[in-house]
Amino acid sequence: MATKPKLKEQEEEAMLLQGQADILHYTYNFVESMALKCAVELGIADIINSQGQPLTVHQITEKIASPAADIDNLSRLMRFLVQKNLFEATTDTKSGDLLYGLTYSSKWLLRSEEQTLAPLVRLATLPSHVASWLCLSQCIKDGGSGFEKANGFSLYDERSGNQRSCFDEAMACISRIVMKAILSNYRDVFDGVGSIVDVGGGIGISVAEIVKSHPHIRGINFDLPDVVATAPTYPGVTHLGGDMFNVIPNGDVIFMKAILHNWSDEKCVTILKNCRRAIHERKGKIIIVDGVLQPDGDRKMDTVVQRYDLTMMAQTPSGKERTEAEWKKLLSEGGFGRHEIIKIPSFLALIEAYPE
Ligand SMILES: C[S@@+](CC[C@H](N)C(=O)[O-])C[C@H]1O[C@@H](n2cnc3c(N)ncnc32)[C@H](O)[C@@H]1O
Repeated sequence: MATKPKLKEQEEEAMLLQGQADILHYTYNFVESMALKCAVELGIADIINSQGQPLTVHQITEKIASPAADIDNLSRLMRFLVQKNLFEATTDTKSGDLLYGLTYSSKWLLRSEEQTLAPLVRLATLPSHVASWLCLSQCIKDGGSGFEKANGFSLYDERSGNQRSCFDEAMACISRIVMKAILSNYRDVFDGVGSIVDVGGGIGISVAEIVKSHPHIRGINFDLPDVVATAPTYPGVTHLGGDMFNVIPNGDVIFMKAILHNWSDEKCVTILKNCRRAIHERKGKIIIVDGVLQPDGDRKMDTVVQRYDLTMMAQTPSGKERTEAEWKKLLSEGGFGRHEIIKIPSFLALIEAYPE
């Protein structure tokens, strides 16, 4: 007769079973990303939103407007997305049909809204971006960017090529979300500022939002010449083309969002020294909006920054996210001896740094 396993063994079995579930979960985690990509491509959230009420799968299929649309496949996708809380399902009391509605998550997939994450979903799931992840172990063995290994060209080459609007729209959607969080919670960060230079500002959304809410500020959007050449115009904002590794234009404040995490410490120190030259020795400051790794802090937000850290590894030659201690060291090497990290309701943080 088999003996009953001791409690310790039972505990170990339970832990092993949990471990097995974890590995299966992580192995197939990409299914969530791909289902999300599919929902955005089909515009499911927009279809439901445009009707102003939850819809049956038949009604959603009609709006997808594909003659061969497979309703069973859509039902399976919706069942998965409901389980992930991306949509909600209620039962129509009359017909018994399932009605699919939006949740607080799928509201972020609305392409029609200004506050949307749909462009980011599109960018992160482009074949060239997904391919970069397949080279992660090569990034560890040989260094360098997985993106270049997988595609034969860099992220910035892609950005100036046929995926330009995809890249710009994804950066712009994050900018709108983060700038709203900053401008509605920390308006005083811009008090007394006459001019602001957004270094690597892309198509200029961030500085345009700052100037819109503080019309007395003169905004300069500074980026590579080919990027600013096609940027839209905004009231109170001047576009300037140049190279931040060479010279940065003068301003009361230098603003940098999602810039330093793209570069090695060495390159960042060059950028920071150029920032220091561009501001007033006593009155100037820089504002950095970037990730701060907090292994002991808010787990949910830190997980996003940790993922961005690996994204930098997969997609840039030397980019990385930094802990508070690493930021302190970097800033002081760049000539900014005093800084303050301000938490904002976002996965990014706001860092104010002063030359001292
Ligand atoms: C990740 S994007 C961030 C864009 C923008 N700050 C945002 O948050 O949406 C990095 C930006 O840095 C710009 N950039 C790269 N190298 C540059 C350089 N040498 N001088 C100026 N800008 C540069 C890119 O063109 C791109 O717009």
